[in-house]
Amino acid sequence: MDLERQKHMADSFRTRFGAEPQLWARAPGRVDLMGSHTDYNLGYVLTLPISRDTWMAVRKNGARNVRLHAANLNEDDCFPLDEIEKATSTKWSNYVRGVAAVLQSEGLQTDGFDAVIHSTVPLEAGLSSSAALECVTAVVFRELGGWDMEAKAMATLCQRAENQFVGVNCGILDQYSSCLGQSDCALLLDCRDLSTRTVRIADGICVVICNTMSPRRLSGSEYALRRADCERGAAILGVSCLRDVPSEVLAARRHELPEQVAKRCEFIVAESARAESLAAALEAGNREAVARLCAESFAGARDLYEICSPAMEAMNTAMLGAPGVLGARQAGAGFGGCMVAIVEALNADEFGEAVIESYQRASGLRAEVYRVEAAPGAAIFQPQHENASV
Ligand code: GLA
Repeated sequence: MDLERQKHMADSFRTRFGAEPQLWARAPGRVDLMGSHTDYNLGYVLTLPISRDTWMAVRKNGARNVRLHAANLNEDDCFPLDEIEKATSTKWSNYVRGVAAVLQSEGLQTDGFDAVIHSTVPLEAGLSSSAALECVTAVVFRELGGWDMEAKAMATLCQRAENQFVGVNCGILDQYSSCLGQSDCALLLDCRDLSTRTVRIADGICVVICNTMSPRRLSGSEYALRRADCERGAAILGVSCLRDVPSEVLAARRHELPEQVAKRCEFIVAESARAESLAAALEAGNREAVARLCAESFAGARDLYEICSPAMEAMNTAMLGAPGVLGARQAGAGFGGCMVAIVEALNADEFGEAVIESYQRASGLRAEVYRVEAAPGAAIFQPQHENASV
């Protein structure tokens, strides 16, 4: 499959740019296994960088511009490196433009290049296709420019591109996951000091993403409203972020908060603790704890944080009714998009079939189901030779 993908991209590169690509880079999407909206509260999140990724086939063009072809959308874009403005029609190119602008503001060399982009991360579905594009772009500029930068610093700059250039006030989760992924393990990320603990999921347990196929818009006002509620809660409680609020303190001072703010705070404080607990449960293969933690997380997302849509509720029911399910919950920012299930690996196929069938009956929508593995973070890779077996 990878060889076919590579061949398609190389063909498309030749057709558009009349030469061979000289450099290949990739960056993964991610799914959060636990820790919805905890990142901007500087809490914990258990994240899995996934085996669905964004590739760029690249050639330095010797000019001061970047020419792009987005294979998934069949769209082209070109922008000058010396006067980077926001694109209004090819919005996806703002992730590339934003990274270029931020790198320049750091005094880093940015060279013009031509690129074909292809992604197997479903677009706008809550699996961080945008962060994957930002991070693969940063890797390409780093390689072409010949400068060095650690993955953590790169994640932070890509987040800044999204916050300041694209204008989405996200936390660090997506870019961190895409830059720092490792094969074979999930990452328990401490969003305060950006340290991680690697978490090996016990044998026999796998991760299956279920896409509700009902669209989601992150830059919509709801995300910003949740953030504002959390900040308000922290301010009333006299701390700089909800990470600093122990659950006993929240329980004792809950009455000081407006009801909606109290609900948001309750969810975040519990969800951050659940991220740590789920890490331990997955490592130990403690199925009872996995089920309980995921159920608590979904209930909190629905009743306290209020980020669930009717499609998500239908999907949660479908996932919980499917064979081999251990736990099921929301993923990403919520409001539609993808959800995530922890499943007995032996049952993964029948799980997927059952979810598609019962979700369709309940919602009229045809779900997509992706079994995913852990994947390494953004990097250059060597293309396979065309005569290698597929
Ligand atoms: C989006 C944001 C992340 C994070 C999640 C919710 O993916 O980009 O920073 O806040 O939502 O956990």
